[in-house]
Amino acid sequence: MSDVVPMRVAVVGAGVMGRYHANVYAALPDAKLVGIVEPDPTRRADAAERYGCATYADLDALLAAGPIEAVSVASPTSTHFDLVRRLLHAGVHVLVEKPVATSVVHARELAALSRARGLVLQVGHITRFFRAVEQLREQVRTPYLIEARRLAPNGRIQDVGVVLDLMIHDIDIVLGLVDAPVIDVAVAGHTVGDGEHEDVCAAQVRFEGGCVARFLASRVAPDAERTLVVAEAHQTFRLDFGRAPHTEMAVYRPQRDVAEGSHVHVDRYVVYEDNPLRKEMTHFLARVRGRTTPIGTLEDDLRSLTLATDLLTRLRAHRSALPSLP
Ligand SMILES: NC(=O)c1ccc[n+]([C@@H]2O[C@H](COP(=O)([O-])OP(=O)(O)OC[C@H]3O[C@@H](n4cnc5c(N)ncnc54)[C@H](O)[C@@H]3O)[C@@H](O)[C@H]2O)c1
Repeated sequence: MSDVVPMRVAVVGAGVMGRYHANVYAALPDAKLVGIVEPDPTRRADAAERYGCATYADLDALLAAGPIEAVSVASPTSTHFDLVRRLLHAGVHVLVEKPVATSVVHARELAALSRARGLVLQVGHITRFFRAVEQLREQVRTPYLIEARRLAPNGRIQDVGVVLDLMIHDIDIVLGLVDAPVIDVAVAGHTVGDGEHEDVCAAQVRFEGGCVARFLASRVAPDAERTLVVAEAHQTFRLDFGRAPHTEMAVYRPQRDVAEGSHVHVDRYVVYEDNPLRKEMTHFLARVRGRTTPIGTLEDDLRSLTLATDLLTRLRAHRSALPSLP
């Protein structure tokens, strides 16, 4: 039995991610899920029945109902800035789904506000809580080539494009492995149908020191794929994140044997990912209680968003320079 008084928490947005957050809070002994904000009446009714807590049509109603210590924001990305800002002004600690905002200016404002108010603002970069990613960080020293592919047949999220929706995960992993400034970027992509945002994006980023990272993200791919290859001179890692709840990991090491000539030694592992979202949320609550330091700082979040939005700016400039189709 925990001797800790459960923290009063709420979830804003009861869609796909919001329900995952609510499930975790409902199961954590040191949290008490006291409210859910959801504008859609059907989803709101479903959440009320499922979690047995109070539900509200908007954030003001939640804040007016009583004290809340911490909130998960899992609404569409385009709403994050406004909602997170209001929560921080109300003195509430915030775990916001990635990305924190759609612009770096907004992200900086939220980071500054959380610091000024002495509140935790954690961005839900869930891949930081994958054991395979932790192991990669421990083992990789000087990568010269990284290839990240994140493809899905699912264009459900439409308020942002595939860079802020999917590629941001890989950008965050890569920036966790390469501690050097970006010196060169090439980007291409396209939008399917008459959507406002890109559905496919390919990017190549060169870092000072020579490492090249290549990204491909799509939400209109026929088959799902989530893989990452990280090459160093003496070893290459290949991760397959598409095997939930496991990540498959292979390490290739070239061997030179006088008798047998050159060959490649391969070690294969299966890493059990023990509910990364629960780890992320437990970490958030521990931070709110002042019991741990952040895994990934607001500066790390800003660095990922800066690169992602830089890719978008270049992609838009590139697209507007292309002749339009007849
Ligand atoms: N960490 C991850 O792996 C991961 C995966 C998917 C989505 N996400 C992020 O989670 C967020 C939500 O994505 P989703 O897939 O759950 O979307 P979703 O569309 O399934 O759910 C969003 C919900 O928010 C509600 N909503 C809209 N405006 C609101 C407002 N002003 N206040 C409160 N609720 C509001 C919508 O009605 C909807 O129910 C996005 O920022 C997305 O990038 C993260």
